[in-house]
Formats: sequence, C-alpha cells, structure tokens
Amino acid sequence: MRRTFIAGNWKMHKTPAEAVALAKELVSELSGSSHKVLVAPSFTCIQAVGEVVKDTNILLGAQNMATVEEGAHTGETSVLMLKALGVDAVILGHSERRHVYGETDEMVNTKVKLALQHGLEVILCVGEKLEEREAGQAEAVVELQTKEGLKGVSEADLAKVTIAYEPVWAIGTGKTATPQDADDIHKVTRGVVKSLYSDKAAEEMIIQYGGSVKPDNATELMGMENIDGALVGGAALKAELFVPIAQYDK
Ligand code: PGA
Repeated sequence: MRRTFIAGNWKMHKTPAEAVALAKELVSELSGSSHKVLVAPSFTCIQAVGEVVKDTNILLGAQNMATVEEGAHTGETSVLMLKALGVDAVILGHSERRHVYGETDEMVNTKVKLALQHGLEVILCVGEKLEEREAGQAEAVVELQTKEGLKGVSEADLAKVTIAYEPVWAIGTGKTATPQDADDIHKVTRGVVKSLYSDKAAEEMIIQYGGSVKPDNATELMGMENIDGALVGGAALKAELFVPIAQYDK
C-alpha cells in the first residue's frame, strides 16, 4: 500500500514572517494527518520554517539546488547548505526550472544523484508542454524525462525518490488534467520504473500529480489507482486551501 504524499511548493512567495505564520497554521491543523506532508518554502525562508516544523509530522523541502557541492556558483544553493538547515527533501526538475531557467535532463539527473548521495529525498518533476500533448507526445516526453532523471540511481536509492507528474499546461492555469488523463500518464510512468528496475519498485513508487490541484478536485484525482498524492503550488499558499488537500480521505 503506497502512502499518500502531499507536498506544498511555495515557489517565490512569502517573506520569512509570512512563511512562519503559514507553517504554524499547518503544524497545528495537520498534526493528526495520516498522510506524508511536506512544505517547500523559498531558500530565504527555509531556516525559519525549519524551526517551526522541526519535530513535527511536516517535512521540510527545498525547491531546487545546485549541480555541485560548492564553489564559484553565484546565486546557487548547495546540497550541503540544505542539509545543514535540516531539509528533508528537494524538488528537482520542476517545469519552471526546466522551461524558464533552461535546466536540461542531464542537469536534473546530476542534481538527483547528488541529493541522494547526501541522503536527501527527491521529488523528481516530469511533464509535457501543451504543444507536446497536442502533438501526441505526452507519454514519450514523460518517459524520457523519467528515464533521464533516474539514470544511475540504484534501486536502493529509488525508495527516496517520488515522481511528480505535472503537465506544464496545467500549472498555475486553473486547467487540470482529467483524473483519467493523469492516471494514464501515471501508469506509463510506473511502467517506466518497472522496465528500469522491478515490479516491486514500480508498485512502491509514489507518483504525485501536480497542476492546479485544489480542495475541490483533490479527492477525485487522488482516488485514481496510480495517483498517490499531489504537488501543490497556488493552493499551498493558504492554510484553508492546503489543509483540506493534505487531509483528503481516499
Ligand atoms: P499549481 O502549481 O498548483 O499552482 O498549478 C503546481 C506546481 O507547479 O508544483
């Protein structure tokens, strides 16, 4: 039985004071949650939010990290820095990183391996753009991003990887993939994991859906056989929206 995993990606929102206030609300409202829950604040808020969620059931995430451990990389943040702040997991290959900041599959894969090497959990994001979906390439794009992202990752390390399927056209647009369309891609993704690893690895892989997840569509999406949770953007910024998603009941 796969454990539902709900993650909030706060993107480039909130000052430390605002982030702390939200984290405090989530800690008090989600203390009894049976699901795995994570929040990923911006780098400038990780430390403050980390102090709030420390020793609670809410995990601390980061939204990105550098491809190398340290050095002359102006503006980048290293895995060592994230570890020192108590970060549990890092979101890698988010479509905004891929398509706005030009991250390649190779860079994403380097980051995935580096994070795992340092014991961080990884949320590996994959997803097709609108023109790719319209051209009938959604499955091929997701398959390739999954394969490239996981290159060189051992089956033992795979237990620390969550895959997030986020169709780019559904992110922040209010358009959601239909539960069936999403489940179809999740099934393909699980098949990729099976072909790369084993039946067991595929069966155990947590695959989140992301893209305009809201309280009113969460239950239907997560009721699908292959959807094991959600990576939530906009609706993660308000406790009254994130809490019902994080507490949804299958
Ligand atoms: P959204 O973002 O929920 O605002 O669509 C999801 C994401 O980008 O992770």
